[in-house]
Amino acid sequence: VPDLRLLRTATFRTALVYIWLFTASVLIILGMIYYTTAGFLDQQTSETIAVELDGLHDQYRRQGLPGLAEVVGRRARTPRTNALYLIVDPRGQPVAGNLSNWPQVAPGPDGWVEFTLTEAAPDGEGEAAGTYPARARAFMLSGGYRLLVGRDLREREAFQERIVASLTWALALTVGLGTLGGVLISRDFMRRIDAINRTTRRIMTGELHQRIAVAGGGDELDQLARNLNAMLDRIERLMDERRHVAEGIAHDLRTPLARLRSRMELALIEKTDLEGSRSALQDAVSEADRLLATFQALLNIAEAEAGHQQAAFAELDLAALVREMAELYEPVAEEKGQRLETAIGEARIRGHDHLLAQAVANLLDNAIKYTPEGGRIEVSLGPGSADGSTELVVADNGPGIAPEDRERVLRRFVRLEGSRSSPGNGLGLAMVDAVARLHKAALVLDDNRPGLRVVLRFGG
Ligand SMILES: Nc1ncnc2c1ncn2[C@@H]1O[C@H](COP(=O)(O)OP(=O)(O)OP(=O)(O)O)[C@@H](O)[C@H]1O
Ligand SMILES: [Mg+2]
Repeated sequence: VPDLRLLRTATFRTALVYIWLFTASVLIILGMIYYTTAGFLDQQTSETIAVELDGLHDQYRRQGLPGLAEVVGRRARTPRTNALYLIVDPRGQPVAGNLSNWPQVAPGPDGWVEFTLTEAAPDGEGEAAGTYPARARAFMLSGGYRLLVGRDLREREAFQERIVASLTWALALTVGLGTLGGVLISRDFMRRIDAINRTTRRIMTGELHQRIAVAGGGDELDQLARNLNAMLDRIERLMDERRHVAEGIAHDLRTPLARLRSRMELALIEKTDLEGSRSALQDAVSEADRLLATFQALLNIAEAEAGHQQAAFAELDLAALVREMAELYEPVAEEKGQRLETAIGEARIRGHDHLLAQAVANLLDNAIKYTPEGGRIEVSLGPGSADGSTELVVADNGPGIAPEDRERVLRRFVRLEGSRSSPGNGLGLAMVDAVARLHKAALVLDDNRPGLRVVLRFGG
């Protein structure tokens, strides 16, 4: 069954327009050829007749009617001639020539007579009688005699027929080939669109890993397919992340919740005194606080990820903000016997102060937490290498993060081996990453040889 949808495709409609254009061009070109050629043939016929008439006129002057009749009779007997001759007497009776009677047509204003000849079937040859146009010019002889010289226009007729035949063929070919081409092109187009649709439907039914095939020609359909695939990659990554986050939440909150529950259960079972109950309650409260802190961290990330936060952007003094955070964390570092060194230059950016402060706090918290006692932590702020950029660096001389883990640790709930003993949920760097993305800043985790060097580059 032919696929009728083809006829509705944009490609086929375009092909149709081209078919019309081609057809019109073919018609115009052949029409022009016909008119110029036919006009040229007509003019040649007229000239030949005029010249012949002149010659016969001469003949008539020199030898009179008998001489003229003699020449006309001879010429009229030439076989297969397309020349027409007739001399008639004053009563209209033929005297010489190959026409049986004078045409019953009035001459045109230019002296030319256009008439139709009916050819009697030549005896014995079985050829059908035909009619064809003729064109002639009359000349008055003395004494009421008249001379007619003309040509039959069979050739012109044949030419006209040939042009009409060519036109028909050209039209048929143009329309036929055009339609065929249109169908072939549209079919290819439809096939590719169908493939896209099929893949899209499979994706809609849940096969999110499906990708649209790219033909490789690099045309607009390929570009569309590539963009759709890129979009799917992004969606899939986001879905994965969401799933990962959900699993992370379930996994990470189950342990503290279970702990909370067993503490309370224990407090219920053990018939302790008021002091014992109070301390059990105290433990439960701090466990609940940790849970709340985790939720807060998750909410902070969600907040930083919400694009509309850019509406809350304001011109802010980043130097003051970083200095404040460094002062806040200095006592914590000192407690671990660490040195916190700052080199904070002037820097103002447009941003979200609350989220930025949280991000800086997370970086300082990590640096202090993962660097052993007696370590060194550096915080610096100043112009970056790129023009107009501002770089915030938090560096330590602790264990650092191996290159292969540097991307992974930015995900929620990812904690590296060896950090499990220290408290934390693996949400700090995810938050920093979200804040960096919100500010269109580059976040780079680098080797501080030894230690970790985190660079946040704003602008530039
Ligand atoms: N300065 C650092 N030095 C060495 N390892 C680090 C450093 N900062 C982060 N890491 C590693 O990256 C992991 C992820 O850090 P992130 O801040 O996201 O989570 P966390 O510190 O474990 O928990 P949270 O920040 O939620 O309390 C850490 O568990 C640790 O393994
Ligand atoms: Mg952290």
